[in-house]
Amino acid sequence: MKKYGFEYFASCPMGLEELLSQEILSAGAKSTKVVRGGVQFESPSEVALKVILHTRFASRVFKYLYSMDVLHEKDYYLEATEINWKNLMHHAQTFRLTTIFGDLPQEREEFRNSQFANLKLKDAIVDYFRHFDGTRPSVEKDFPDVSFLARVERGTKKPYSVTLMYDLCGDPLNQRGYRIAKTEAPVKENVAAGLIKLVGWSPEEEGLLDAMCGSGTILIEAALIAGNIPPGYLKVERHLTSRGMPMWTFLNYPWFVEDKILQGHFKALCDEVTAMTTAGLEKLATFHGRIRGSDIDSYNVGVAQDNLKKARLSSLIPIERKDALESTPPSEKSLFISNPPYGERLEHGEEEKLRALYKGLGDHWKNHWKGHRAALFTGNLAMLKVVGLRTSKKTILWNGDIECRLAEYNLY
Ligand SMILES: C[S@@+](CC[C@H](N)C(=O)[O-])C[C@H]1O[C@@H](n2cnc3c(N)ncnc32)[C@H](O)[C@@H]1O
Repeated sequence: MKKYGFEYFASCPMGLEELLSQEILSAGAKSTKVVRGGVQFESPSEVALKVILHTRFASRVFKYLYSMDVLHEKDYYLEATEINWKNLMHHAQTFRLTTIFGDLPQEREEFRNSQFANLKLKDAIVDYFRHFDGTRPSVEKDFPDVSFLARVERGTKKPYSVTLMYDLCGDPLNQRGYRIAKTEAPVKENVAAGLIKLVGWSPEEEGLLDAMCGSGTILIEAALIAGNIPPGYLKVERHLTSRGMPMWTFLNYPWFVEDKILQGHFKALCDEVTAMTTAGLEKLATFHGRIRGSDIDSYNVGVAQDNLKKARLSSLIPIERKDALESTPPSEKSLFISNPPYGERLEHGEEEKLRALYKGLGDHWKNHWKGHRAALFTGNLAMLKVVGLRTSKKTILWNGDIECRLAEYNLY
């Protein structure tokens, strides 16, 4: 069994790995390795905490604990009972386990499925504590004190290798805490931040309009970038002001609880986030009207306003009910950036409506957005052709399990 030192894995939507790697290096990591859907990195513990508070692109951050070479499920159980679980959690804490399968042969008898492997690991933990303490921790799916991830892959020494990790976050990091109301098909918060970075928006030089803003995600992430506000700011605020549920699971782990120096670093990181938020909101006050939103649906306009209010940005970003085909640039040089409907479940007549919208956008930009830039993020690749304008760049990016394109246009 291998025990890890200071090694971590940050997961992210596919297509954002390079941006996440740069982010982790600038937080102070010694080295990173980009893999599909995430970034491995080696760093002192406080850098991992900094990533958790500052990341725009990661979904979760994990700390590597052990890797085990195993023959089959029974062997897995036996190996797992060798782990000193007392060092990882307390018997009175609740825990959650998630097992995922990496690259494995389709035909296999030794590891049936991820639920069964999960059960074996759970048995190992429970039996370990029963043996030592005569009592057992219980499983909690929704709000566990401790959360583990086990990844099963092909092994080199034995047929399988299982890597055990702490999930340091609990709730995913893309859930910033501002989305109190939802519209249909919202884009993930970290994907929205990725869109803004990938198009190279320069807040000092360009205004920004999301003319199909739905719940307001792109607008909020753009404002956080413009103000250099760390996306963990609302969670930090709740952590500092309430004594309720811990905002991140790492607060419950012996790794953190028994390390006074690390706790000092974390306190300093929270203070830094608070100071950056105050400075960022002041800076954004000078941007008034340069970042704007609109949507054709008045209910969605209300949802976006509620979310902006929760994000403490409502007085800075005006939102109105308007057809995107009547939009005007908010400043001399502007970026139109939107995530139009994709039409995932096309009902009768829907496709015609979508065609009219995508073609209408191309025509509208030609007539009213000359000299500006535009970007569309969509999972409907056929509709991009309907826009009828040459793209200056196209990037593949995943929103959940949908492969999407970010298409950029220079409008002459
Ligand atoms: C995929 S959703 C956008 C989701 C958004 N990015 C979010 O994170 O919540 C598409 C949005 O386009 C809006 N929409 C559709 N046709 C429109 C039009 N012609 N003008 C303005 N908005 C439109 C819909 O009301 C919907 O809110």
